[in-house]
Amino acid sequence: MTEAHAQDNPEARREVPFKVVERDRIDARRYYDQGFYDREVEHLWPHVWQMACRLEEIPERGDFVEYTNVGKSVIVVRNGDGGVSAFHNACRHRGVQVAQDRGNVRNGFVCPFHGWCYDLDGVNTFVYSPDHFRDANLDPVELNLKPCRVDTWGGCAFINHDDDAPPLRESLEPFATAMDAFNAHEMRIEWAESCLLPVNWRLALGAFLEGYHVLTTHPELIPAGTRGKEKYEASRPGVAHASRYSGTADARSQVDNYLLYLRNLNEGNKGMVDRRELAIAESLRDVELPSDETAGRDFTHKVYEALTEWSAETGVPMPDFNHIIENNIPAGTWYAFPNYFLQPIFGSAPQYRVRPLGPELTLFDVWALTPYAPGEAPPVPPTPTPMAPDDERWPLIPSQDFANLPKQQLGLHAAGFEYMRLAEGVEGMVSNVERLVDGYLAGADKEQLARAVQHVTGRIGHVDMHTNEFLDLG
Ligand code: FES
Ligand SMILES: [Fe+2]
Repeated sequence: MTEAHAQDNPEARREVPFKVVERDRIDARRYYDQGFYDREVEHLWPHVWQMACRLEEIPERGDFVEYTNVGKSVIVVRNGDGGVSAFHNACRHRGVQVAQDRGNVRNGFVCPFHGWCYDLDGVNTFVYSPDHFRDANLDPVELNLKPCRVDTWGGCAFINHDDDAPPLRESLEPFATAMDAFNAHEMRIEWAESCLLPVNWRLALGAFLEGYHVLTTHPELIPAGTRGKEKYEASRPGVAHASRYSGTADARSQVDNYLLYLRNLNEGNKGMVDRRELAIAESLRDVELPSDETAGRDFTHKVYEALTEWSAETGVPMPDFNHIIENNIPAGTWYAFPNYFLQPIFGSAPQYRVRPLGPELTLFDVWALTPYAPGEAPPVPPTPTPMAPDDERWPLIPSQDFANLPKQQLGLHAAGFEYMRLAEGVEGMVSNVERLVDGYLAGADKEQLARAVQHVTGRIGHVDMHTNEFLDLG
């Protein structure tokens, strides 16, 4: 049955193996079954927006980045008009890739096999000895590189293999609006590494889709002196506001706890709090504060003011914190389906991208992004060589997450382990993402999928898996 047929006719839905039936139980086989993986390659990845590169990697005419995922290579290039184009990476003669990794082809692409040439718009400009070919094989339109859909948001180029998929911006909401408020487009790469994880890509995602693990996996992020339920509240992900610590202690301890938290995020989670932001927060330690539980919030607002002043003095862009407060946009970990994360606290953010290399192998890219004054951004680091999850160069927080994942993948294979049992609120996002994947595999209606994408795209936190029946698309 064709794709269109499956989508027009609900009766023609595809069977999804091991699909989510009870929303809080996820079949372990979804994370290692080759058939399930093959269905994702065929029915999920070709229809979703994928973050292909940062725009600072391609500032000049002819700069390109090769983006590969599930066996498909796409070249993203700064074209002659200063815009961004993307092409499927295959010479129209005999299919050799016209470019690899990253570089500059100011004068266009030259195929290394027989020398066919293409300009920055993908137009074929040279065929060596065309009289050797039959006319039918030299149809000019057919000789141009095949374009791939591309669009930009937040300092990144995203590609989509599906010309009928909803627009990028729509697919990124409400993530995009929130991350615009944190100035995602002003951030630049400070540091980039990637991790080769012996796990399924959705297992890797799942380690960042909930805050329930913070208590045990990242004890450094829990303020000293918190107990019981308070301790759990404090472990909720991404709440940078010192008000989190209200009630735990006097004003001075609230501030000290908050500063310790920022320090742990700076050292332990590269990019989440930049060292310049941390220094500004620490310089305010002794400011006068109210003596009640509002001290923490008051201190956060003083940090915002100091960052705003620093921004005006140095030209380093900072978000409009008043806008963030007025619109109640939470800092912390934000997720865009299927495989992209940003984690802003002030004006910087770690950026994650998760790509499968097989049912039980994943490439997990990690960037530290931060804003710079005009012209001050450092050179873009080279494409990283993937490191092992236990490489000592990983900062503390990701190393703690990476340490659990291979053990989890192995545990899923244990005899008698049939399904993960999810907590209804705090692990709701794991269920929602899995069910949305089922929708793609089943060939659900496009409008339903588009709505579901916006529902799972957002901030990590308590997410109800029971009030969104429309996500049961498998
Ligand atoms: S394959 Fe590219 S010129 Fe022959
Ligand atoms: Fe974590």
